[in-house]
Order: sequence, then structure tokens, then C-alpha cells
Amino acid sequence: MFHKNLKSFSKDFLWGASTSAYQVEGANLIDGKGPSCQDVKKVPEGTSELDVCADQYHRYKEDIALMAEMGFKVYRFSISWSRLIPEGTGAVNPKGIEYYNNLINECLKYNIIPLVTMFHFDMPAVLDKRGGWSKRESIDWFVNFAKVMYENFGDRVKYWLTINEQNVLTLMGDVIGTTMIPKGCTNIRKEIYQQNHHMLVAQAKAMALCHEMIPDAKIGPAPNISVVYPASCKPEDNLAAQNLNAIRNWLYLDMAVYGKYNNLVWSFLEEIDAVPEIQEGDMEILASGKPDFIGFNYYSTATVEAYNLEGNVSSKKDQQSAMDETGVCKSFKNPNLQTTQFGWEIDPEGFRATAREIYSRYRLPLIVTENGLGAYDKLEEDGSIHDPYRIEYLRKHIEQLRLSITDGVEMMGYCPWSAIDLISTHEGMVKRYGFIYVDREEFNLKTLDRYRKDSFYWYKKVISTNGEDLSN
Ligand code: BG6
Repeated sequence: MFHKNLKSFSKDFLWGASTSAYQVEGANLIDGKGPSCQDVKKVPEGTSELDVCADQYHRYKEDIALMAEMGFKVYRFSISWSRLIPEGTGAVNPKGIEYYNNLINECLKYNIIPLVTMFHFDMPAVLDKRGGWSKRESIDWFVNFAKVMYENFGDRVKYWLTINEQNVLTLMGDVIGTTMIPKGCTNIRKEIYQQNHHMLVAQAKAMALCHEMIPDAKIGPAPNISVVYPASCKPEDNLAAQNLNAIRNWLYLDMAVYGKYNNLVWSFLEEIDAVPEIQEGDMEILASGKPDFIGFNYYSTATVEAYNLEGNVSSKKDQQSAMDETGVCKSFKNPNLQTTQFGWEIDPEGFRATAREIYSRYRLPLIVTENGLGAYDKLEEDGSIHDPYRIEYLRKHIEQLRLSITDGVEMMGYCPWSAIDLISTHEGMVKRYGFIYVDREEFNLKTLDRYRKDSFYWYKKVISTNGEDLSN
């Protein structure tokens, strides 16, 4: 659709950016914090451990001041479960409460709204040892963790996100170090979809509890949504794209919003013998958890062609790769898209398409909880960092965001990844996303000082003009 007149971003549009605890905080085993699955995993070869990261734990005041300087209206960060409750259940760590109180209060000091992700890839290691999400009790563990957060922070935190990228946890958990498969398991996919079912029930209960305990708060899910294109206009390619759209995207949002399993996904699970056990009462719980908005992470689209009965094997590279799945679809390299230095396709129009599709399916306000460009950045001798490639990426995506608003999508805010440089899920420190540069290398911690990138000044202007001026 071509628009002659563009709608503006709303006056209260939430401009900001995102991080997650295990990637930014550091201080991973101090002040009483228990290890999470991220702290005990073997990090990918050539990448840093997660003990220091960007050291936000010790430098949050400086970081929030820089975010305020950019004009942030919102800061999306996650709360580390094992910093708050070191063993996952039981005793609460007073130092953990103190840290997040300080972080929240620091945001509020500058009128920055805290948008809190409850779970971002960091299951307490003790709970993982007990079986993690495979255990039915994980639902209670998570709901208890939610209760502790609501009790302690609910007076000031009014925007909550449940589980970051539950679809990535389910489809690519091994890549990001979160898959916990109990010893002796003979049907791994069934186990994973059982874990997924427990997360869905836990999420629904946490949403209902949020509404009960903090009636003026809003809560929603935060999956990674990428529309899937058919490789051609062949009808069978279109069916393949529908299949992957359901498996990758709609399963998670149909559940969060309607409390129902997507029918295509259900038939896929039957086909691969991975139907989860649903206990009596689960479907009622799932239907009772009503989100107020949908958060979604977007990096790029995926493209697939029809499956080929002979050839397909399951191939997964990382969270942005399309899947090969016998009987379902085969990944296809989109020849129309360029890629980042790290091989992710860049598709701003796909961002608009994704927002339109989500909104027309669910009719809830949306907030972009991640979007951004991972790249090698260079700190110059004068302390500047020239990242025109990031500005270009973000500009094109914000243009499409505005077009999606003009298309009628109700868009609450935009939180690109990431506010500040941090450790990537599986590519270490060298894959930088931030507006704020952190002076460290993969293994050399250097000064950890903060520097403003060119994109910092650019985003500041974007925010101060409420998205009207995207020029350099
Ligand atoms: C999302 C995650 O998948 O993508 C983030 O929610 C992650 O945790 C981001 O860092 C970028 O991915 P990567 O692999 O480049 O760090």
C-alpha cells in the first residue's frame, strides 16, 4: 500500500532500547547471585565467559544517565532469576532485591519507564539440575519468581514481559545454551515441546497473577517474530511458508492471546510424535492469561520452499535461520536481501509486513522489544565510533515502523537491541549492537569505559523529534 500522508508516532510513543541480565550485568556470581544455565554452560569457542559482560551491575548509574541523555522514555532490561532467588526457589537474595530496586529507581529518576522481562534465557542452574522446564513443577517455580518480582517491584514497574523468545528457546535452545534434556530421554522433540507447554502454562499463570496483584500494570509476551516468505508463487511453496509461520510464530502468539494450540502446529506435533501431555485444567489456565499488549523481537524474515520428501534434514544455524524440516519446509536463501557482517538477512519491509500480520491476527497494541544490527565497531583514537551501517539499518526500520503505523497498526514503542554493547548469545563481544560502546575486547577487559557512538547522537535526535527527523 502506498501512502501519500504518513501518520506520526504518538505523543507518548515509547522510544528506548533493550538489554538482558546475563548479557549485560556481569557480576555473575557475586553478592549472593546463584549461577544460571548461562553461567555453567560451555561458551562457544573463541567467545568470552559471562562473568563481566558490560559490567552494568557496577555501572548502572552511568548507563542510565547515558540513556537519559539520549532521551529514552523506556528501558527494557531483564531480571536475573538466580540473582533474585539464588536457588530458583526458596530464599530471596536481599542484595538482588537491592540491585533491581536501585536500577528501577535510577530509571524513574530520569522518567525512564522500566519495561521488565521476567525471563531471558537464564534458568537458575539449580533448577536446571532438577529437570528445568521438563518438570511440571517448573510452572510453580516460575509463578513464585513472578510473585516475588510483583511484590517487590510492582509498585513501580507497570510494564512486564513474560518470557523472551520462547520460540527460540524451543526451536534453537541448543544454540543459545538453554536446552536441558534429561538423561535417558529417547524422544528429544517431545521433551522440548513438553517444556514449551510448561512455559506456556507458566506464562498464562504469571499474566493472570500480574493482573491480580498489580491491577494498573500491563503485561505481554516477547517472542521473536519473523514472517516467513514462500520462495516462489508455487502453491506448494506457499503451503510450506504457512507451515513455518505456524511453527515458528503463531504457536506462541495464538497461545498467549487465545490460549489455544495452533491447528497446523498440533498436526505437526502429531506427525513427529511430539504432542505434549496436557493436564486437566491446563486449557482453562491457558485461556485465562490475557496479555495487554504484544512485545516482539524482529531481526529479519525467513524464506522457505516446499519440502522435499527425500532430501531434507533438520538444519539449524541460529535464531534467525529458516528451518529445514522433512514434510514441512526447506530453507531458501532470499536473493533479494543483503546480509549483515554476521550473515543475518536485512529486511526492513519485512518488519512492516511482520507488524501488520501480528496486528491483524491479534488486534493488541504492539511494542518492538528488539531490532538491531550486530557489527564489528572500532573505537577511534579520539574516542569516536563511526557506525553509519547501524544508523542506516535503524533508519530503514523506523521508516517501515512509521509506515506500519500509517497502515493502522497500533504501535506503542520501539526498543532496539541494544542500549549498550553486551555479549551476543553465541558470537561473543565482537558482535556489537549498542548505541553506547564498551571499551573491552573478547578476552581483554581493558577499561570498560563507555563511549558514545555516532548512532548515539543520531538516536538522540530521532527521539527528540519523535521520529520525524531520521537524517544523519
Ligand atoms: C535475540 C535475543 O535472539 O537476539 C538476544 O533475545 C540476542 O538475547 C539478540 O542477543 C541478538 O542475537 P545475537 O545472537 O546476535 O546475540
